[in-house]
Amino acid sequence: MATNRTFTMIKPDAVQNGHMGNIINDILKAGFSIRAMKYTKLSTDQAKEFYAVHAERPFYGELVEYMTSGTIVAAILEKENAVQSFRDLIGSTDPAEAAEGTIRKNYAESKAKNAVHGSDSDENAAIEGAFHFSPEEIH
Ligand code: RTP
Ligand code: MG
Repeated sequence: MATNRTFTMIKPDAVQNGHMGNIINDILKAGFSIRAMKYTKLSTDQAKEFYAVHAERPFYGELVEYMTSGTIVAAILEKENAVQSFRDLIGSTDPAEAAEGTIRKNYAESKAKNAVHGSDSDENAAIEGAFHFSPEEIH
């Protein structure tokens, strides 16, 4: 069910800094199951489209450059109340404000390079999941 799914990306800083395994482990320990997962790289066009909602923000260019700077891990996750539960697990956008024990607190470099993405609504989780995975890739 879409209402029990969310979409995440482990961002380039976290992959480059060697945190991929720990982050996946934290996600599994928190009770999420993985319905799809891909080690991949975003093109500039993909990053622009994915973050189109932020096109007018001052950090948009920097965000697109950062998200295309290295490999990422994209995944569809399932758990009861997945969207909110995952936002709780990753913590605030800025790791300096993120709660102790959250993924961003533990692994993010900065507000811009903040280790992980988490969908902000059931609707966006479905859109973002479909952006990265075909139906045959979701198990
Ligand atoms: P995300 O969408 O990646 O899960 O992050 P979020 O909801 O916590 O934050 P959002 O406001 O949607 O921002 C998207 C991403 O843009 C980068 N950002 N940089 N330099 C800045 O002030 C700034 N603000 C946001 C971050 O990578 C953020 O996750
Ligand atoms: Mg967001």
